[in-house]
Amino acid sequence: MCVMDKKLKILTYGCQMNVAESERMAGQLQQIGYTLTESFDAADLILFNTCCVRATAEDKIYGKIGEIKKYKRLNPALIVGVVGCLAQKDGEDLIRRAPHVDFVLGTGQRGELVSVVENFESTRRQFVDTSNVSGLIDDENILPVRAGGVSAFVPIMYGCNNFCTYCIVPHVRGRERSRQPAEILSEIRETVGAGFKEITLLGQNVNSYTGGGKTFPELLRDVDKISGVERLRFMTSHPKDLSDDLIAAMAGGKNICEHIHLPVQYGSNEILRKMNRVYTVEKYLALVEKIRAAIPNISLTTDLIVGFPGETDETFAETLEFLERVRFDMAFTFIYSRRTGTPAADFPNQVDEATKHARLEKLMALQNKISLEKNFALDGQVVEVLVEGASKTDRNIFTGRTRQNKLVLFEHGTEKAGDVVRVKITQVQTWLLKGQIAG
Ligand code: SAH
Ligand code: SF4
Ligand code: F3S
Repeated sequence: MCVMDKKLKILTYGCQMNVAESERMAGQLQQIGYTLTESFDAADLILFNTCCVRATAEDKIYGKIGEIKKYKRLNPALIVGVVGCLAQKDGEDLIRRAPHVDFVLGTGQRGELVSVVENFESTRRQFVDTSNVSGLIDDENILPVRAGGVSAFVPIMYGCNNFCTYCIVPHVRGRERSRQPAEILSEIRETVGAGFKEITLLGQNVNSYTGGGKTFPELLRDVDKISGVERLRFMTSHPKDLSDDLIAAMAGGKNICEHIHLPVQYGSNEILRKMNRVYTVEKYLALVEKIRAAIPNISLTTDLIVGFPGETDETFAETLEFLERVRFDMAFTFIYSRRTGTPAADFPNQVDEATKHARLEKLMALQNKISLEKNFALDGQVVEVLVEGASKTDRNIFTGRTRQNKLVLFEHGTEKAGDVVRVKITQVQTWLLKGQIAG
């Protein structure tokens, strides 16, 4: 087989960080002749980039890894690798559960991916290494193979130091490490040079960025100055670290979008304390007020967990009340998942599954109502949309997002992906807006 003719199939699970890292792994493996394919049959290497934030994610991934066995039977030369958070967490156990997996590489060792693959190609010897969870710092000299041509993710830091008591992420991603500003800025220049319009800076908690002695708002201002960055976003922000200077940078920014993803997780102080979130409901509300005063057209989204141990009808009612007060534009709602090794897994008063599901339904119903009401305020308005391309189901409909990160569907004329257009909203739904190009 020709060296330049190897095919790589990547399956990516979990958060945006994993999406960004899959693009980087595709870039790394391109150096040794692998190009991307969508097809399982054509693949010489199948890479699972995994997540373990909830049991549901894990189960899905193990199921899919099991399915891959059939492709190995058809093509014994096929290499199957598992990387990312679940790989970090399960290591050797993963190979025991799925012996057809050829290598398992932890999150801190993505830099070794190329040598691991090359070694396997020549020795065919199973390999597991998850020893250096906080190993990866820089992504120098890695040119990501990015999906799409409009919006690009750029990691600015790796890991997390917060140890929320429910969360596995600090355990599988290691301690916080910030990339150097010069490296981030040069990657962004290169990315906009290649035609990308929107940059999203990524980190588990971007507010604690410290690269090269710079704070996050300082970095954000520097990125905002790069010509070609038409839209600038970031995620995620831990409420305890969102500074006045960040609000000032956003309010005074040129192309920094009016959207903050600000996970609150819960709306009762008792549970927030047990979660080790370090802020109170009152502090969060005061922060929201400050943000809205400085940036009136800001959209706020959040993450919420129901069924955390110790949750009662009362704490849950407080959370519903809290949602009515904040009125988020959107919320991602999760059922608490017990993660072995995290403190909350051993907390007393775990909530039974039926109660968790019933509460999730209620929470979603309330938030959906609020999201819809908020979207109704945009009915008849003209919004600025960055065009992403044709919708998957209808080629005559284009999709894009407003600066507030709301999804917009519109009938397209001569527009193309990457254009910024004005769309008049004619119909609103809970999760999206529909409209027509405004003349
Ligand atoms: N660093 C980010 C996101 C981390 S994971 C942050 O702090 O916001 C994304 C979301 O998954 C979290 O915000 C949380 O709502 C959810 N999550 C994390 N651990 C969970 C668990 N054990 N069960 C259910 N949801 C969880
Ligand atoms: Fe997990 Fe908390 Fe860190 Fe977010 S801040 S990754 S929820 S430990
Ligand atoms: Fe999942 Fe790891 Fe992201 S556990 S949510 S892929 S940081």
